[in-house]
Amino acid sequence: MTNGGRLIDIRDLTKRHKMGGASVNTLDGISLQVERGEFVAIVGPSGSGKTTLMNMIGCLDLPDSGSYMLDDVRITELTDNKLAGIRNRKIGFIFQSFHLLPKLTALDNVELPLIYGGVPAKARKERALRALEQVGLKERVHHRPSQLSGGQQQRVAIARALVTEPPLLLADEPTGALDIRTGQEVLALIERLHANGHTIVLITHDKEVAMRASRVLVMRDGRLSEGGGDGHEAGSGIPHGSSQHLVEQA
Ligand SMILES: Nc1ncnc2c1ncn2[C@@H]1O[C@H](COP(=O)(O)OP(=O)(O)OP(=O)(O)O)[C@@H](O)[C@H]1O
Ligand SMILES: [Mg+2]
Repeated sequence: MTNGGRLIDIRDLTKRHKMGGASVNTLDGISLQVERGEFVAIVGPSGSGKTTLMNMIGCLDLPDSGSYMLDDVRITELTDNKLAGIRNRKIGFIFQSFHLLPKLTALDNVELPLIYGGVPAKARKERALRALEQVGLKERVHHRPSQLSGGQQQRVAIARALVTEPPLLLADEPTGALDIRTGQEVLALIERLHANGHTIVLITHDKEVAMRASRVLVMRDGRLSEGGGDGHEAGSGIPHGSSQHLVEQA
């Protein structure tokens, strides 16, 4: 991990899309600062621009205007090639639908980002095993996705996001495809990662999910504002010991 201080610094970001004949601001002047170690949730209705913003934060797409600094790198000036490298080194992605490769075992899926990162085979395997152990899947490393439950698949995806030790974990609706109980387990795991010092940006339309974050921002029509007013304290919900339990029981 790098020095303390600011990890994300986004200023006045815009992104336009064509809607019918007209051009619409899907992101309409977004500014967002995230300090290292924060757990930030971004909520908002369907179509408000959350995934579009996630694509920007995740360096999957570039804005039409504005600036974005991630871990002291000026993202908005990079070429596609450089962006791919930044994604690999600086961001662990957790998606709603897991995005695991179906023919690979859990272990091979988790090793993938290390292959792209040029890590030698032995170190790769050790690190992937450690990451799978961290999410409580030590006993399942040779299973393929189809042999795992939804919650287990998402935990493999979280291990894959963790394995490169990126400064930022970025999650888009990480519990969206899971039943309530399994979703709670995955959330507990995410909370534990936060408690261990990871920086997390989580995008959801679910206020219950967002309550777990230390800061909630609301997206509306392409604009971001400070949330609050829900009357909930940060970190309320599942008691702290439960994430430990989650790992121990696996
Ligand atoms: N590539 C694109 N081309 C045209 N319009 C787009 C494109 N990507 C997003 N949009 C539009 O931008 C708006 C925001 O979409 P986005 O996927 O960011 O919403 P969201 O907040 O993630 O919604 P949900 O909660 O349903 O996932 C939508 O109206 C969508 O149609
Ligand atoms: Mg979305």
